[in-house]
Amino acid sequence: MPILPTFRTARLTIRPRTLADLDACLAMDRDPEVIRFVPKPWTDPAGHAAFVRGRMQADYGPGLGYWSVFAHDRPEHFLGWILLIPCDGIGPEIEIGWRFLRETWGKGYATEAAQPVLDHAMDTLALDRVVAEIDPNNAGSIKVARKLGMTDEGLIHKDGATWHAFAMR
Ligand SMILES: CC(C)(COP(=O)(O)OP(=O)(O)OC[C@H]1O[C@@H](n2cnc3c(N)ncnc32)[C@H](O)[C@@H]1OP(=O)(O)O)[C@@H](O)C(=O)NCCC(=O)NCCS
Repeated sequence: MPILPTFRTARLTIRPRTLADLDACLAMDRDPEVIRFVPKPWTDPAGHAAFVRGRMQADYGPGLGYWSVFAHDRPEHFLGWILLIPCDGIGPEIEIGWRFLRETWGKGYATEAAQPVLDHAMDTLALDRVVAEIDPNNAGSIKVARKLGMTDEGLIHKDGATWHAFAMR
């Protein structure tokens, strides 16, 4: 497993995701509202678990991977994750992404947790460009990209779907 840094913000600890977070991640994905805009193998529980486990064990390259997020006042309670990985696990572009329990939405957690990961990408890893590709109807996620200061690159078409693309350079 790659060695990733841990980040602390005013309210959150953002630490490397591990297999210990598997059940919490699977439970989060079972909420239909959480996966509404995310196209992945949700219908088959075994395929879903294998997909998430595979993502947890993959090596995405130095400084890249997934982080789990916890609030300082409830350090054992998984809130969600941030990813910084090759696009769709393949690349060559690097994407940033976020997913949180529905009960936590609207408190600024996704933006607060994504900010140090994006800073890490730009400042420490010195990446040329980090993208976010978002379902055009996913207003909350688009707002996170905007609040992070990512540039709106408009709509793109990929794999038969349309995405609202954002980038940080
Ligand atoms: C997208 C997501 C991570 C946002 O998490 P969050 O912690 O609520 O994000 P933030 O609070 O930092 O910012 C979201 C902003 O969008 C707003 N918002 C949330 N849902 C919205 C909606 N359906 N329509 C309009 N605005 C919305 C929030 O009120 C907040 O606005 P504010 O900054 O004015 O307070 C969360 O909704 C989520 O996990 N969704 C399911 C997974 C997902 O779609 N991930 C992204 C795939 S690209």
